Formats: sequence, C-alpha cells, structure tokens
Amino acid sequence: MLIVYFSSVTENTRRFVDKLQLPSVRIPLRLSDEPLTVNEPYVLVCPTYGGGASVSHENSQPVPRQVIRFLNDTHNRSLIRAVISGGNTNFGADYGKAGEVISRKCQVPYVYRYELFGNDEDVRIVRENLLSRAEHLGLNPSPA
Ligand SMILES: Cc1cc2nc3c(=O)[nH]c(=O)nc-3n(C[C@H](O)[C@H](O)[C@H](O)COP(=O)(O)O)c2cc1C
Repeated sequence: MLIVYFSSVTENTRRFVDKLQLPSVRIPLRLSDEPLTVNEPYVLVCPTYGGGASVSHENSQPVPRQVIRFLNDTHNRSLIRAVISGGNTNFGADYGKAGEVISRKCQVPYVYRYELFGNDEDVRIVRENLLSRAEHLGLNPSPA
C-alpha cells in the first residue's frame, strides 16, 4: 500500500496525507528536482489547480505540471491503481476536477474527493476504504 501525492507550498494535500498514517511519498515540488520513480502499486492523491476552468475558460489544465511529469513516465503510470483529488467547492463544477482528468487518462477509478486538507470524516473514510479494499484496488505489491 503506497500513497503518492503532490502538494504545493500551501501543503493542504500533505496535511491530509499525513493524517491517513499510511506509507506515502511526495512528488517533488520543483521541476528542477530529481524526478520521483515508484516501484509498487499506488493510489495518487492530487490537488486540483485549474482555477475554475469551466467558467473562466482561461486555464484548462487542472492537473499540476509536476503530476503530469510524474505520470508521463510510463513506468510510474503503469503502477497507478486509483486516484483521490483535493479541491475547493468554491470552484463549483471544477471541484476536484484533477481526479476526473487523471481517472480518464490513466483508466483508474476516481475513488474520493475532499476539500482542502480534509476533515476527520474524510480521513476515516479514505483510510478505512484503502485498507479494506487494497486487494480489490490492486494496491498490494505483487509477490517477488
Ligand atoms: C490557483 C488555484 C487554482 C485552483 N483551482 C481549483 C479548481 O479548479 N478546482 C478545485 O476544486 N480546487 C481548486 N483550487 C483549490 C486547491 O485544489 C486546494 O486549495 C488544495 O487543497 C491545494 O492543495 P495543496 O495545498 O496541497 O497544493 C485551486 C487553488 C488555487 C490556489
């Protein structure tokens, strides 16, 4: 069971992931940092950064560039099993949109969305479901 996540300098996603108390690894913030490579199945936790693209039509890319770079690596992409997205309901139809885009492009289920750093109920639901459904989601490492 591994969580791969991205979090910007505001670190809402990091706070949410920390509360889950499950093994996790962070996608580097700076594109100049050494790229992350993973070697086991993971669930991706990704904040949405489209800026309400459906309404503004200005920035149509809700997935952070750092996450796109991580997923452009075919080895990393082959190991994603599910996506969870963070966002803010102020963005209306674009709430948690990064999860929709990643789910469609990577053909994995979009299993949960939450606001900002998540509340106690979000943490309970996500933790319990990841643990109880790990095998169903394909999140257990394959035997060596
Ligand atoms: C410039 C900007 C654009 C955002 N666009 C969206 C959006 O389109 N949809 C959404 O649900 N949340 C949007 N958000 C909210 C972030 O997803 C939310 O604050 C998230 O918790 C940030 O996570 P982080 O602190 O780990 O980077 C946006 C936030 C910022 C600062």
